[in-house]
This record gives sequence, structure tokens and C-alpha cells, in this order.
Amino acid sequence: MGYPVAHSRSPTIHRLFAAQTGEAIRYELLEVAPNDLETAIRQFQATGGKGLNITVPHKEAVVRLVDHLSDRAQLAGAANTLSFEAGQVLGDNTDGIGLIKDLTSNLHIPIEDARILILGAGGATRGIVGPLLDMRPAELWIANRTLDKAEALLERFGHLGNLAVCGFDAVPAAEKFDLLVNATSASLSGELPPYPETAIGSETICYDLAYALQSTPFCAWSRACGAAKAIMGWGMLVEQAAESFHIWRGVRPDTGPVLKQLAVSA
Ligand code: ATR
Repeated sequence: MGYPVAHSRSPTIHRLFAAQTGEAIRYELLEVAPNDLETAIRQFQATGGKGLNITVPHKEAVVRLVDHLSDRAQLAGAANTLSFEAGQVLGDNTDGIGLIKDLTSNLHIPIEDARILILGAGGATRGIVGPLLDMRPAELWIANRTLDKAEALLERFGHLGNLAVCGFDAVPAAEKFDLLVNATSASLSGELPPYPETAIGSETICYDLAYALQSTPFCAWSRACGAAKAIMGWGMLVEQAAESFHIWRGVRPDTGPVLKQLAVSA
């Protein structure tokens, strides 16, 4: 369920997972306006639906509509995966683990002891800060256009590790970052905010949570700044889907072939 949702690649991914694992599932897109979310979830449950992905813009609103939230969804304040058991609605969040799996298992990018900068302080950032801090980076910075929103995240997550926040114009420039993660929604509208060019050196890996068939503006910008690599979030998309599939079906699909079949792993 999302609004809008027509662009989603999740039906293709889950169809490939189902074919690979022999699970009999039907996964369809449901466009649901914000005011209709609660009714739509109840209706889905009443008609025997087994699991839901919840996407933009509902991930935060949905936490108030579930009976039980996993620790990671509670920490993020957002859920992307619902399951229905014994009349109860369970909410979970697989976005953070999806990013971690892509970075570590697929891309072999070290996180422990790395200097990491996240751009953006919205819902997407809330989903990834906890799991990234769990991996014990040397430093995790969040830079945002609106400083207040970054400061609110410092209050929420600061006790979990070495977290600091700033505006785009105050990113420390003395040392380059190992990893930059773009978690703003700016590329959805094709915009290029004043990202901090000084954060990028020739060893820096840039990762955009957004994905597209052509390079996103963030990836194009980071290449122009001389980054070692610019990667779009297709791998995270497939990995978070695999975690959701596992929650629903108890089977963990092999993500490698599915990522290849999407033909976008470059
Ligand atoms: P999401 O769930 O995708 O994170 P969100 O919660 O609305 O969506 O957050 C969007 C993030 O992208 C915010 O960090 C936002 O910055 P502000 O907090 O300053 O609004 C950021 N963002 C979106 N468009 C942007 C732009 N054109 N320039 C800079 N930041 C932008």
C-alpha cells in the first residue's frame, strides 16, 4: 500500500522470489490515500490477506494502527512490513537491515570504524540510523537542510553511538568520509540540493537510497565530485523485500539472481 504506488517494482521482485522458492503468493499494488489507510488495512485483514508492505507516505502513520511493533520498527518510528497472526497486526521495519545487507553482503563495504555521512533527516533516515549505529562506525553524521529535524534525530538516536548532526554547509571538511548515504527525497523530484562537495574524496563511496533506470542526480553529482563509486539503492530494495518475504513465508530467498534479473545492479 502506498500513495502513489504504480511505480513500485516490488510485485516483480516478489514474483521472482515466489518462483525461486516455490511459494504460492499473490502480491499486488494497492493505492491507498492517507485518510483511507486504516480502513484499507482492516479490509485487507478481513479478506484473508497475509502480509502487507507499507510504503511512502504511510510508513510513519502506520505505526499507530498495529497491535505490536518490532523493536527496530519502534526505534525507527516507522514500519514497512505488516503481518497478520491470530487476529493481531504486527509491524516491522526491514529497510535498515536491507541497507546493511546490501552494503555488507553484496557490496563488501566496511561499516565498522567507517566515517559515514547521511544526507537528509526524514523517514528514510530514521529507518537506517539504528542499524548503521549497531555496526559501530567510527562516526555517523546526519546533515539536513532543516537543522531542527536533524537535531530531533540526535535526541532519538544519540544514545546508540557516535552520532552528530549539522546543516549541509557545516559538514566537517577536514577529513573525507568513507561513505555518503543520500536519504533525502530530493532526487524523486530531480532536484540537486547543495550537498557538501568537500565530504567526498577519491576513496569515498556514495550510496543513494533512491534508484532509477538512469543515474540519479545524487549519483551523477557524486561521480562529478570524484567519488570512488556511486551506487543506487536497487540492492537495498531487493534486500528489504527479501526480509519481508522471510517474515511472511519463513523462507529466505536468494537475492543475487533477482538483483541481476532486475538488470540494474550496476
Ligand atoms: P522520506 O520518508 O523520504 O525521508 P521525508 O520524511 O519527507 O521523506 O523527508 C525528506 C527528506 O529529504 C528531508 O530530510 C528533507 O529535508 P528537510 O527536512 O529540510 O525538509 C529532504 N529534502 C527533500 N527535498 C529536498 C531538497 N530539495 N533539498 C534538500 N533537502 C531535501
